Amino acid sequence: MTCRVVILISGSGTNLQALIDAAPKSGFNIEMVVSNKPGVFGLERAKKHKIPSKVIEHPSFGSREEFDRALSSTIDKINPDLIVLAGFMRILGAEFVRRFKNRILNIHPSLLPKYPGTNTHQRALDAGDKKHGATVHFVTEDLDCGPIIAQDSILINPSDTAKTLAVKILEKEHILYPQVVSWFASGRLKLENDKVLLDQRVLSPNGSTTN
Ligand code: GRF
Repeated sequence: MTCRVVILISGSGTNLQALIDAAPKSGFNIEMVVSNKPGVFGLERAKKHKIPSKVIEHPSFGSREEFDRALSSTIDKINPDLIVLAGFMRILGAEFVRRFKNRILNIHPSLLPKYPGTNTHQRALDAGDKKHGATVHFVTEDLDCGPIIAQDSILINPSDTAKTLAVKILEKEHILYPQVVSWFASGRLKLENDKVLLDQRVLSPNGSTTN
């Protein structure tokens, strides 16, 4: 059975595009795209591919909980197997995360547990790191701290800037995220009792590392 996915975005949606391109051959279908920001390019991508989309603007809600509830009720109508955060720049509250427990994925532009939060490329440069990368993880109630599924990394060159790193890391993300979503779609990937299982084997805390 095809895995039904809802994708949440806040911006240009290059990861969304990578997922749209991978979907037909990867056993999942994107049922809906939801953005918390109007006018972002990710919405154009959805429209071009005839994927229903919805904007739920967070500033029009009085609290995080109210926004989360509106988001939940939109997602409930779809009843997806998986929720994929693809550049979704909102922290989801505990109630939302519990409701969709074990079926929310996020991609983060750092080698978690290093650099949760924003500005990850500059932070890696400032720390003099030799390596940098991207992580896909299950979403739990702690920001960017859920169980890691997979990471991919690059070596940092002396000439790298936050901008060049962002470009290189995005290229990695566009391969890594569809791969992980296809694992979930085919039933190979699960979160059970806070442990990440791939092909029924518990992954190490750093997930499945491709580099
Ligand atoms: C990516 O770097 C992702 O890791 C982060 O936000 C960025 C989104 O980019 N969460 P895009 O909107 O998919 O182009």
